Amino acid sequence: MLALRVVFVTVASVAPAIAAAQTAPATATDTVAVSIDVSKPGAKIDRNIFGQFAEHLGTGIYEGVWVGPDSPIPNTRGIRNDVVAALKAIKVPNVRWPGGCFADEYHWRKGIGKSRPATLNPNWGGVIEPNTFGTHEFMDFVDQIGSEAYLSVNIGSGTPQEAAEWLEYLTTDQPTALAKERAANGHSAPYKIPYLGLGNESWDCGGNMTAEYYTRQMTIYSRFVRNFNPAQRDTGKMLRIAVGPGGGESRWTDWTETVMKAWQGHQWSWDMEGLSLHNYTVIKWPPAYASVGFGEKEYAEILQKTLEMDGLIAKHSAIMDKYDPQKKIALVVDEWGAWYAKLPGSPEGFLAQQNSQRDAVLAALNLHIFARHADRVRMANIAQMINVLQAMILTNKEKMVLTPTYHVFKMYVPFQDATFVPVTFDAGTYTQGAITLPRVDAIAAKDAAGKVWMAVTNVDPNRPATITASVAGLTPRSAAGQTLTAPRVDSVNTFEAPTTVAPKLIAPRVQGGTVTLTVEPRSVTVISVQP
Ligand code: AHR
Repeated sequence: MLALRVVFVTVASVAPAIAAAQTAPATATDTVAVSIDVSKPGAKIDRNIFGQFAEHLGTGIYEGVWVGPDSPIPNTRGIRNDVVAALKAIKVPNVRWPGGCFADEYHWRKGIGKSRPATLNPNWGGVIEPNTFGTHEFMDFVDQIGSEAYLSVNIGSGTPQEAAEWLEYLTTDQPTALAKERAANGHSAPYKIPYLGLGNESWDCGGNMTAEYYTRQMTIYSRFVRNFNPAQRDTGKMLRIAVGPGGGESRWTDWTETVMKAWQGHQWSWDMEGLSLHNYTVIKWPPAYASVGFGEKEYAEILQKTLEMDGLIAKHSAIMDKYDPQKKIALVVDEWGAWYAKLPGSPEGFLAQQNSQRDAVLAALNLHIFARHADRVRMANIAQMINVLQAMILTNKEKMVLTPTYHVFKMYVPFQDATFVPVTFDAGTYTQGAITLPRVDAIAAKDAAGKVWMAVTNVDPNRPATITASVAGLTPRSAAGQTLTAPRVDSVNTFEAPTTVAPKLIAPRVQGGTVTLTVEPRSVTVISVQP
């Protein structure tokens, strides 16, 4: 994978760049030559790395998605129309549901049929869970936004039988009692469930299990939780995702070793197709960094932290390679994103935070990391979709606002299922206090129609950069693109000012086989290049 990430930062180039960062006026630009090589295609950037995560947590589901059919907020069968339209536009490939920690306390039968008992949500504020948004409502939501379902089954406090019956209820077309019950509840055709999580964080909120105990449980669930309507778009199989590590220390590498070793020696009667990795960008625990009103120091600290994702993936991929050199098992980063202090005044346990231009840059950097590891990382789910942690969308009653992170996901749609192509460039450096980061980051890909796409992140919050891009083996004739920047690193969109951070069209200059564009400070830019 490193071979694909050829980012030259030579000693000779770093030293002048550091000096420049300390002395240059805010308007100074430096030129970064990027060369794209379409003759050496890499792995497919699976659309699933743009997946979302929607847990029963705070106002992520209730209010964010579900307002009920009688709500004055425009909705279709209880699901808000504004949110559906916004999510359709970013082509969400899959939605992970119902948790998170919630999944290991969720009992699906309480969320079907006419009579739905009120239960509690002890993980997240101890609030009432009305169960009005259950299996059918989730599948309707996924259908309305044109996405696919990634269900997490309850291993922590459920049973293999409960999970097996859920999948039979959802997927069989035989006239079983469960299929008849599904039909009586309004859906006679079997649903498609392409992705199945076998528990969540079983080393913590999912049951405090050891790796050995989890692996034993997981193999039982893998055996009995059958999908009768296998449905993954490309393979026709269900992708079963085992709980994986939550960090890089030996505790976590041991976990990956244990699960992968079990898989290597597995018998025909059980299998898995994915291993999960959870990694939040959080500096202190409990999270203390503010999501609003921060300065350049916190901007640099958070971005430095988020770049640890690369090493973490490399570390666990190396272990997976030992047991699975053919890379049959996907590494699924199904919880990632920034986790900040809760917004003042917001309820405990709701994980409400704002979303700034810093988060846009953070999202782009992580998407680049996933793309560079596309041969192993074939799915990822940002936490979380609406109103929780690093959200795409914030809502307040009838109001809705799109976050800077949403705009990044929209700008990156062309990378879904495109083929990774290598880029070389001198990243330069951005220095803030004791922190030095690569100043510029870039990835490129070729889509099915042959169009070449490049995404560039200018991490430096003070200096623009001039990018000169050449594509080996291709003479560019035209280029077009969009850029997302903001007046400040902590600029946010609010209900009152929803477009402070919004993408702008740009027209790169094409001359003599080179595409030239200026990327503004603290920006994310995506361009297409046409021969
Ligand atoms: O996303 C919030 C929580 O973070 C999830 O429920 C849990 O899996 C993780 O610890």
